Amino acid sequence: MKILPDLALTYDDVLLVPQYSDVPSRRKLSTQTKLTQKIALQAPIVSANMDTVTESEMAIAMAREGGIGIIHRFMSIDDQVREIARVKKAESFVVDNPITLTVAHTVGDVKKIVEETYTGGILILDEKGQIVGIVTTRDLLFEQDDSKLVSEIMTRDVVTAPRDTSLEQAEKILHKHRVEKLPLVDSKGKVAGLITLKDIMKIAEFPKATKDERGRLAVGAAVGVKAGDLKRVEKLLEAGADCIVVDIAHGDSQLEVEIIKAIRKNFTSAQIIGGNVATAEGTQRLIDAGADAVKVGVGPGSICITRIVAGAGVPQLTAVINCAAVARPQGIPIIADGGVRTSGDLVKALAAGASTVMLGSLLAGTDESPGLLMTRKGHRYKVSRGMASLQANVARKVREGEGEITQEELEDYVSEGVEAAVPYRGSAREMLTQLIGGLQSGMSYTNAHTVDELHEKAVFTRMTEVGLRESRPHDVEVM
Ligand code: XMP
Repeated sequence: MKILPDLALTYDDVLLVPQYSDVPSRRKLSTQTKLTQKIALQAPIVSANMDTVTESEMAIAMAREGGIGIIHRFMSIDDQVREIARVKKAESFVVDNPITLTVAHTVGDVKKIVEETYTGGILILDEKGQIVGIVTTRDLLFEQDDSKLVSEIMTRDVVTAPRDTSLEQAEKILHKHRVEKLPLVDSKGKVAGLITLKDIMKIAEFPKATKDERGRLAVGAAVGVKAGDLKRVEKLLEAGADCIVVDIAHGDSQLEVEIIKAIRKNFTSAQIIGGNVATAEGTQRLIDAGADAVKVGVGPGSICITRIVAGAGVPQLTAVINCAAVARPQGIPIIADGGVRTSGDLVKALAAGASTVMLGSLLAGTDESPGLLMTRKGHRYKVSRGMASLQANVARKVREGEGEITQEELEDYVSEGVEAAVPYRGSAREMLTQLIGGLQSGMSYTNAHTVDELHEKAVFTRMTEVGLRESRPHDVEVM
C-alpha cells in the first residue's frame, strides 16, 4: 500500500486568480479548440454518450452551436447507425444521396420513409430513373388514402440544376422559381444530389457549426470493448461518424487498449477517443495504443456512485491536471468528463489543461435530450441516469430486444450510477450560450485570448469551505 503525497482537488477547491487583462471585448473572444487531433470545435463542449442525453436531436443541436454530440451505445447497431444518419442528413449544402421512390410506390410508402428518415422531400423517378416529380411533407399533410399512387399527389414540373451548381447559383434558382427544393442531375438526367432552401438558411443561421469535409454536421458515436464492437465501429464509420469514443468506466484496461489498437489497425483514418482514465499513466497507455484524444473522469459525474461503490476515483481537477500534463506535449487533447455544474467549472477544467468538457446532467434537462418533460410539485424536470444504473441497463435490454430483466439478474446487478430528476433548462442552445458567455468572462479575468492561453496563463488559488461559501450568494434570500 502507498499513499500519494499530494492532496487531490476538484473544481470547488480552487479559483482562478484574476490577472491584469488587455481583453477589449470578452464576447468577441474565440473559444475555438480541438476535440481530437483532427477535429476542431468552435465551442469546447461535448454532449455525453448517455441515453438520457445524446441521440440525434441533441447531436444536431450541439454541432450547430459549434460543439459535438456523442451518440450513446445502449441500442442496437442498426439503431445507432440510424441516429448517425439523421445527424448527417440534418443539414448540408448538398444532400449526396437523396431518397428516391418510383411512380409505382404508394402514399403509404412515402409516409413510412418520411417518418423513418425525417426527410421532408422525396424525389419520384420513372422507370428509366428520370425525375418526374417530388413529394413533400406538405403534399402528405391532409392525404388520408395511403393506397393512392404517389403519381397522383406528387408535384410535377420539377426544377432541376446540374450537379456542380454553386451555393450562390442555387439560391438564385430557388428564388426565381419560388421553390424550396432543387434536385441536381448529371449529364444523363440521373439524380446526383439535392439542395434545399432549409439547408441554405441553416448555413447562415449557424455560422459556428461543426461540419465534416462534406458540409454535414459532425457527430461522434460511442462503442464498448466487447467482441461485436469492432463490427459496430465499422458500421458507424460507414454511416459517417466523425469520431469513435471507446467508452468504458475503467478505460485503463487491457480490453480498452486492445480495441483501440484494433480500430487503429483496421480503420487507419478513424479519429479515436479513449476513456475513461484518471491518471497520467492511463492516459499514456491509451495514447500509445493509438487514441487521438483521451477522456478523463472516474467518478466525478452527477449521477455516478463509482467512488461510493468501488472506493476508486480521482477528484476531477487533479485528474485533468495530471492527464493533461502528459497528453498536451504530445498534441493529444483531453476531454474533462463529468462533474461540470456551472460555466465556472468549465473555465477551471480548460484552465487545468482540458481542451473540451463533456456534459451529462446539465444537458439532460434541455429540450433536445431524449425523454419526456415531467412536472413534479409544480416544477418541470427531465431524467438523467448513469449508464451503469440499473434503470439504464433494464432499458438497454428491452431496446436491444433481449427482453425484460430477470429476478436473478436484478438481484446480481451492482449499480454504479443512479437515476435522477434534473430541472428543465430550456433549449440546448440557451444552455450553451450561457456556458460560452461564462467561459469568455473567465478568459477575460485571466487575460486569455484563446483556450490555449487560458491554460498557459491560469493560476489557481486554493480555497477553504468558508471561501466557497463566500463565493455563492449569501446572507440574502435569492429570488
Ligand atoms: P455529469 O456530471 O455531466 O457527468 O452528469 C456525466 C458523465 O458521468 C459519467 N457517467 C457515469 N459514471 N456511473 C459512473 O460512475 C454511471 O452510471 C455513469 N453514467 C455516466 C460519464 O462519464 C458521463 O459523461
